[in-house]
Amino acid sequence: MNDSVVVIERIIDEAYDTKTFVFEWDAEARPGQFVMVWVPGVDEIPMSLSGIGDRSKSITVKAIGEATKALHQLKIGDRLRIRGPYGNGFDLSAPGEKLIIGGGVGTAAVMPAIVATGADSIIAARSDKDVIMDDLAGRFSRNLRIATDDGSRGFHGNAVQLMKEMAAEKHYDCVLACGPEVMLYFTYKACQELGIKCQLSLERYMKCGAGVCGCCVMDDMRVCKDGPVFDQDQIAKLSEFGSAKRDACGRLVKFRRRRRGRLSPLPPRGLWPPTGRRPRSPLSRARTSPCSTSRWSSPLRPRSPQGTRL
Ligand SMILES: Cc1cc2nc3c(=O)[nH]c(=O)nc-3n(C[C@H](O)[C@H](O)[C@H](O)COP(=O)(O)OP(=O)(O)OC[C@H]3O[C@@H](n4cnc5c(N)ncnc54)[C@H](O)[C@@H]3O)c2cc1C
Ligand code: FES
Repeated sequence: MNDSVVVIERIIDEAYDTKTFVFEWDAEARPGQFVMVWVPGVDEIPMSLSGIGDRSKSITVKAIGEATKALHQLKIGDRLRIRGPYGNGFDLSAPGEKLIIGGGVGTAAVMPAIVATGADSIIAARSDKDVIMDDLAGRFSRNLRIATDDGSRGFHGNAVQLMKEMAAEKHYDCVLACGPEVMLYFTYKACQELGIKCQLSLERYMKCGAGVCGCCVMDDMRVCKDGPVFDQDQIAKLSEFGSAKRDACGRLVKFRRRRRGRLSPLPPRGLWPPTGRRPRSPLSRARTSPCSTSRWSSPLRPRSPQGTRL
């Protein structure tokens, strides 16, 4: 593990809300590993390595909240403090035909695996303007397909529908994927149906990134240390996969299924955070944070994506 200060050498605009930051860092890393990035005065957050060269590395950041928006303000020559790399990464040693799927900003996490293997790949996004890193993937993947929910580019539909179509035309031994949990859930289900192995990179709230604090646990696994990549046998034992995740306070928040098949964390009624945002002042945290209420000591029973109790 390295704790380093690196200098940003290049910034690539991937999409209207996503940027890649390239920096020199000679740490050894494997595809699928991540780093903890310190954002002074805001937070320290996990970011997958989206590029892994001998000396240079990159992270690809989608601006969604305080820390990621602060990262987007950085310029060439600015410094970043990172520690890692952490996690197990993808196992690329297994023989056989691989299909690699990146959904949304999850594409960043699978990009080093695409570069290393040249395997057939899918990049999925909501619409054309959300597609990221397709130039790079197109240079390395033997067969790159793009899927957009609204059909504005490539296949009209989601990653799992396209995966099934590709699997009907060609035999695949293993699917490697990273993206929103709903995509990973249905990728896993499709792999089960088709008898294809899978390695899925999961996302959970992380603080230490190194297996110490326990805030990223799923059942008896720590996503940061035992994952973030899990195979089909491990996934089968994760009761929270596709049904619930822990928030910054460690409470279990169940997903609910929306009409159009999208899963989203649903906090219990009347309790923080109603908008999914963190409280901005210590006062609001004390008044509204569930961490200080006893109601949170009993974990919620997770629901399946269909809404039934597990
Ligand atoms: C292993 C791993 C790899 C990731 N790789 C990437 C990547 O390559 N590119 C990218 O854009 N994003 C990645 N993320 C997600 C990224 O860490 C969050 O988007 C970021 O932390 C949001 O912080 P914020 O302050 O901007 O937003 P906030 O408004 O604080 O949060 C927005 C969302 O991000 C989640 N989040 C906030 N802090 C953390 C944290 N410490 N750990 C996990 N989730 C958090 C919140 O639960 C919420 O759902 C990764 C997450 C994990 C766990
Ligand atoms: S983030 Fe601390 S144990 Fe995983």
